[in-house]
Amino acid sequence: MSEAFYSHARLYDLMFPAAGPAVEFYRAAVNRRGGCVLELGCGTGHKLIPIASDGHPCVGLDFSADMLAEAQRKASEHGVAVEWVQGDMRAFDLDRTFDFVFITANSLLHLHEAEDLVSCFRSVRRHLAPGGRFMFDVFNPNVRLLAEADGVRRTRESLSFTDPDRGDVSVDVAEIYDAPAQVTRGNGTSRPTPSLTSSPHRWKSGASSRRSCRCSSRSAACGSSSGPVTGPVSHLARILRFNSASASPRN
Ligand SMILES: C[S@@+](CC[C@H](N)C(=O)[O-])C[C@H]1O[C@@H](n2cnc3c(N)ncnc32)[C@H](O)[C@@H]1O
Repeated sequence: MSEAFYSHARLYDLMFPAAGPAVEFYRAAVNRRGGCVLELGCGTGHKLIPIASDGHPCVGLDFSADMLAEAQRKASEHGVAVEWVQGDMRAFDLDRTFDFVFITANSLLHLHEAEDLVSCFRSVRRHLAPGGRFMFDVFNPNVRLLAEADGVRRTRESLSFTDPDRGDVSVDVAEIYDAPAQVTRGNGTSRPTPSLTSSPHRWKSGASSRRSCRCSSRSAACGSSSGPVTGPVSHLARILRFNSASASPRN
């Protein structure tokens, strides 16, 4: 799991600003269908706040209290009502059903074990109203990117951002592919861009100007909607193949 990665919601939003196409994709899908909406792994509400502003009753579930607090803050700022619930997408019980359930931005790839995926899908099924829809997006497998996860720390330009308090920040990432587990494990370090800052900026109260976090997923990156990689034959792919060839999972 990746709790540390999601314990600084404000930095997450700076690193992964709300992206247009994915927001519009889910917004249009919900508008076509209408009804009550549930997002699992909702984060700071990138998708759910615009969907709620279209008038749909929305619930967002996430395990990170910090992400939910930021989501609540942004929803209030926009004058939008969303019910935010702290919970685990692997097993949840909200005691009601929804017309549309979705998991976006590769969040499903944080579930590394086949049984976690099955358990999540079972929970989703219990929460779907008759005729309800479940949508999710995940990376496509890409062997080249798996091979590039060689453990060497490199600056990831696409993740660099400007923090109003700290100036320009670079993000270094070292990733390694755990082939038997089919999981890419990342170790990220963010630091002020040296040429643009005269004194070290500290993240929280640490003794260093660097801030580190670990993230692991069935992908090579977190939060991006259009990125690389899962294991060549991931558990997810196996489950999807199984389910497309047989009945949907039983409760
Ligand atoms: C990549 S972020 C995506 C956030 C949001 N969906 C978006 O589009 O910006 C993944 C989110 O999933 C959450 N998450 C990861 N594992 C989870 C789990 N087992 N149950 C609930 N939330 C989880 C994290 O806390 C994080 O907010």
